[in-house]
Amino acid sequence: MNSLPTVSVLGLGNLGRTVAERFLEAGHRVTVWNRSAHRAERLRVGGAVVAADPAAAVAASELVVTVLLDHPAVREVLGGATAGLAGRTVLNLSSGTPEQAAELAAWVTDQGGAFLAGAVLAVPQTLGTSEAFTQVSGDTVAFERYRATLDRLGTVRYAGAAPELASAYDVAVLAGMYGMFAGFFQSLALAEASGITGAEITELLVPWLAGAAAVLPLFAGEADAREYATETSNLDINRAGLAAILDSGRARGVSDDLLAPLLARLDQQVTDGHGEKSLSRVVESFRTGTGETVRA
Ligand SMILES: NC(=O)c1ccc[n+]([C@@H]2O[C@H](COP(=O)([O-])OP(=O)(O)OC[C@H]3O[C@@H](n4cnc5c(N)ncnc54)[C@H](OP(=O)(O)O)[C@@H]3O)[C@@H](O)[C@H]2O)c1
Repeated sequence: MNSLPTVSVLGLGNLGRTVAERFLEAGHRVTVWNRSAHRAERLRVGGAVVAADPAAAVAASELVVTVLLDHPAVREVLGGATAGLAGRTVLNLSSGTPEQAAELAAWVTDQGGAFLAGAVLAVPQTLGTSEAFTQVSGDTVAFERYRATLDRLGTVRYAGAAPELASAYDVAVLAGMYGMFAGFFQSLALAEASGITGAEITELLVPWLAGAAAVLPLFAGEADAREYATETSNLDINRAGLAAILDSGRARGVSDDLLAPLLARLDQQVTDGHGEKSLSRVVESFRTGTGETVRA
């Protein structure tokens, strides 16, 4: 008899379909449900049971994995299966804010279920390999119970009992990623304005960014300790360099919308007397001091 935990996957888009496939391959009895029924066909052929509605999917398995577009979709879908949630563990892999994770955790707990939040830092193609990284937070007992099951998704790390932690890590990592993409798009426009192709500039930029990324742990240490003494690249020198980049762009018809706010923050740091300090001190200008802290 199959002693592996039974798993239901609700939401069979690009990620959800792959999640279900990894559990099937590992030998779990998998039940699936999707709003548009045709998306379940391939999984049925692969051995999954197709549930007629969310309530049937929740009833079928001890571990209920939601992989839907967003938080409202999860609330809508699970709202139709409220009666069956008692004794189940819900693992939500849909993206959302820390506040949405906390709200969902409280709601699932009210229904008698246990809640885990998972933030997948991977594309579906890598799911199940060590390259695919999933940060999980929430009910500690549930995480321990399903740790081996979750390992089927790749590299899984438990962030802590606060359900919102997985999302807090996720949004911080993705903020870094989008900052990099935004800088890249700015770079492409600036290069093109001087007749340099995207391919040409990217050939230089990729190794340059890899080198720049190597300094991030140093900056992180400075920011964590709030100690910004430096003998290398200080705020004064970076402020002057960034001003020149913006001037070059404006002279070539390239928007300064992206980097002008960063220059304003460097200006403020220099005006406040920190020009000799590390560039990382600019993080102080991003700390507004308002809002909730997930982990004290
Ligand atoms: N793809 C990735 O690389 C990746 C990586 C990390 C995290 N994520 C997160 O994982 C989640 C799913 O991503 P995905 O790439 O699988 O998206 P997707 O391919 O667009 O699939 C979205 C899924 O949500 C369902 N859905 C949307 N609104 C619904 C509603 N109101 N009621 C019921 N079902 C609804 C869709 O059902 P229908 O088929 O009926 O439209 C579909 O199953 C997102 O939150 C995404 O941010 C994705």
